[in-house]
Amino acid sequence: MEKSDVRPQWSSRMPFIFAAVGSAVGLGNIWRFPYMAGENGGAAFVLIYVAFVVLIGLPVLIAELTIGRRGRMSPITSIRNVAEESNSSKRWGWIGHLSSLGGGLGLLAFYSVIAGWVLAYIIKAGSGMFLGFTAADSAAALDELYASTPVMAFWHFVFIAVTVYIVGKGINAGLEKAVTYLMPVLFLLLLMLAGYSMATGEFLAALHYLFAPDFSKLTGEVVLNAVGQAFFSLSLALGTMVAYGAYLPKSISIHRSATLIAAADTGVALIAGMAIFPLVFAYGLNPGSGPDLIFKTLPIAFGQMPGGAIFGMLFFILLAIAAVTSSISMLEPAVAYFEERQDMNRWKSAIFGGGIAFLIGLLTVFTQNDLAEFHPLASFGIEMDFFQLNNFIVSNLIMPIGALLLAIFVGWQVKRNVLRDELGLPEGGIFAIWHVLIKFFCPVAIIAILISGLA
Ligand code: PHE
Repeated sequence: MEKSDVRPQWSSRMPFIFAAVGSAVGLGNIWRFPYMAGENGGAAFVLIYVAFVVLIGLPVLIAELTIGRRGRMSPITSIRNVAEESNSSKRWGWIGHLSSLGGGLGLLAFYSVIAGWVLAYIIKAGSGMFLGFTAADSAAALDELYASTPVMAFWHFVFIAVTVYIVGKGINAGLEKAVTYLMPVLFLLLLMLAGYSMATGEFLAALHYLFAPDFSKLTGEVVLNAVGQAFFSLSLALGTMVAYGAYLPKSISIHRSATLIAAADTGVALIAGMAIFPLVFAYGLNPGSGPDLIFKTLPIAFGQMPGGAIFGMLFFILLAIAAVTSSISMLEPAVAYFEERQDMNRWKSAIFGGGIAFLIGLLTVFTQNDLAEFHPLASFGIEMDFFQLNNFIVSNLIMPIGALLLAIFVGWQVKRNVLRDELGLPEGGIFAIWHVLIKFFCPVAIIAILISGLA
């Protein structure tokens, strides 16, 4: 068995919780959740999303942390170690290749491009240019960014460089310190923004929109989008939580930590909703305007509110911080693997992984202008530009397939007593409920997502 007892560990429970929550909370909560809620009709989507966090997200999160801590290595080697212990095939380790190499670097590639726009918007907001913005001004400002490849490439590079730097410094020195300081700042800024937004915007309209469900709006598509949002937001299926689990001391309760992580992640998404929708309604903006919700419509709100330059800048700083604590967790699984297998040190591994993501991400940058009409798989009848394709492959293929395989592996291959031992739970009760969910409910539900996603 490939196992090492000298692997560094989180120094205590709090830095681990900060790191895991930092990974989960990102563009997925603050940029993606509001626009998905807006596109899918509000409260009914929100309710179903929360239900899936509990029924699918939480069981898979527990499974990932358990495999990581049991295997104690990179996601790939951890899965192999656990498979070996249960007399199963080491080939299950391929879930790790798919997730951490394909998924992690694939997601980092376009995630950092969007995070780059966030960095660009910090400057835009701070410069006061949003003052008096109309919808047309806001669209024009975004188009101006889209039109400039060098500017987008520059911010994309800056974001990747920061990610590589933090990951390169290593688990204790880099990740732990970064998240311990950044996470509390993030929560503070988000609460401030939500407070401001609720005090000055259409608080009741937002409350009604997000929490008073109109179930006639529930379609199969809405349900599937809600499941996808749960995966994306909890950082599942890309090896992240397996990698973070590998640094977990034995004394920490996995199921309790996972519950805390899921609650914090969902809480932040809901707070983000409460920060954004009162403004959306106060300024008569369209909640369903799609992925452009933040970039196109918030500048109008920031341009009209008093002190908007400061609040706008704070908001985009907050989003950038949230994105960095997520991006480091996308790179970590691949780096742990390169370090272990390819005889590279941590710095080389981080630069190599970040470099790959940077190069792939450049294609997403070019997609905003020169390559807008380039559809790589058009000859197969797939009319998507590179950005859409990259996003589709990660979110609609690698994530559900990775989570499905992991649920099957943990539910059907790993010995029950191994799981019980690692979770520190007696037979029955919480363990029995979790095991039924991971063995039966999750695979069935994920297969349904996958089929509809591909249809
Ligand atoms: N959960 C992160 C977010 O909400 C994205 C992420 C997905 C990070 C998968 C790591 C792994 O932005």
